[in-house]
Amino acid sequence: MGIEQRSNAEKRLVPGASRAGAATMRAAVQHRYGPPSALESSEVAIPLPGRGDVLVQVGAASVHPGDYFVMTGKPYVVRLVFGLRRPRHGIPGRDLAGVVAAVGTDVTALRPGDEVFGWSTAGTLAEYACVPADNLVSVPADLSVMDAAAVPTSAMTALQALREIANVRPGQRVLVTGASGGVGSFAVQIAKAFGAEVTGVCSTRNVDLVRSLGADHVVDYTRTDFTRTEKRYDVILDNVEAQPLAAVRRVLTPTGTLIPNSGRGGRWIGPIGRIVTARVLSGFTRQHLKPFTSLGKRQDLLTLADLLTTGQVTPVIDRTYPLDEASGALRYVAAGHTRGKVVITV
Ligand SMILES: NC(=O)c1ccc[n+]([C@@H]2O[C@H](COP(=O)([O-])OP(=O)(O)OC[C@H]3O[C@@H](n4cnc5c(N)ncnc54)[C@H](OP(=O)(O)O)[C@@H]3O)[C@@H](O)[C@H]2O)c1
Repeated sequence: MGIEQRSNAEKRLVPGASRAGAATMRAAVQHRYGPPSALESSEVAIPLPGRGDVLVQVGAASVHPGDYFVMTGKPYVVRLVFGLRRPRHGIPGRDLAGVVAAVGTDVTALRPGDEVFGWSTAGTLAEYACVPADNLVSVPADLSVMDAAAVPTSAMTALQALREIANVRPGQRVLVTGASGGVGSFAVQIAKAFGAEVTGVCSTRNVDLVRSLGADHVVDYTRTDFTRTEKRYDVILDNVEAQPLAAVRRVLTPTGTLIPNSGRGGRWIGPIGRIVTARVLSGFTRQHLKPFTSLGKRQDLLTLADLLTTGQVTPVIDRTYPLDEASGALRYVAAGHTRGKVVITV
């Protein structure tokens, strides 16, 4: 495929504004912030890779709650990053897996035909996506493109929370809420891989799933309030925040680490209020209260590729949607009852 190169400024894709004579692709496009119904399936120009970029022919892309926040522009604070009046990138989606279609002149580690997975901030719910080469790694042998697409953001969040933020060590007691969700299903497996004794909190219908991921103990939140049990945990990754911080801290050891990890909250500042509360409280207790923002890191994706290769981590796919039904996928994710990941096949 002959792909000319463009500067970074040029390569930003303007929905609906395909260049005269340029090759086009199908994409899920949003012209304004709004609900999933605002997504349109459109023909747009195939983006052109800059010098350090890779053009990926997308095989599959996954979506997560953050994609929904960016699409709706709520909480409003996300607009400071993604565009004040309308989304800066007309195509939603961040995670992807697929085949390298073309590379920029500075890219030497990848070549057309390579199978890769990773993340892009310029939109992945499309037939092609432009991705900085540093955001991609090779898909492990024996892993499907669909499974690979499910990994990047959710698994990197779980890995960073458990390794960088909590420094989980063998034998520690780790509790994961939302253990059946995108982040939680990876967190249970990663904590086990680190040698922890893992407790997963989920609803009745997901008890078997969470046990199958390796959890040593499962708490069904419809029957038992984990904050009212006698057990104490060295690390709590709270992906749901169904309980107040004070209640969760009751079951944290005196020097344990609590990571409040819900992106939900009020419509203006979302989780920022809770983040500030946790940070302020941190100054008055030996317990470590550590909200954090996950970042795309190639080294972490390589670590995850190893865990996938050894079979210590296996993605859980809940539902798949074709690209033309991407709005349904985002609607489903927004409802908050995902079991593992939701993947869009392209
Ligand atoms: N810090 C960061 O940078 C970062 C990065 C990524 C994600 N996040 C945040 O992490 C959170 C989790 O993301 P996700 O992708 O895992 O969400 P998700 O895929 O929607 O999963 C949520 C899971 O929680 C379960 N659940 C609901 N209520 C529960 C409760 N009271 N106790 C235990 N489990 C419950 C749901 O299943 P049932 O309803 O069937 O129980 C579902 O399986 C989100 O708020 C997201 O915004 C933060």
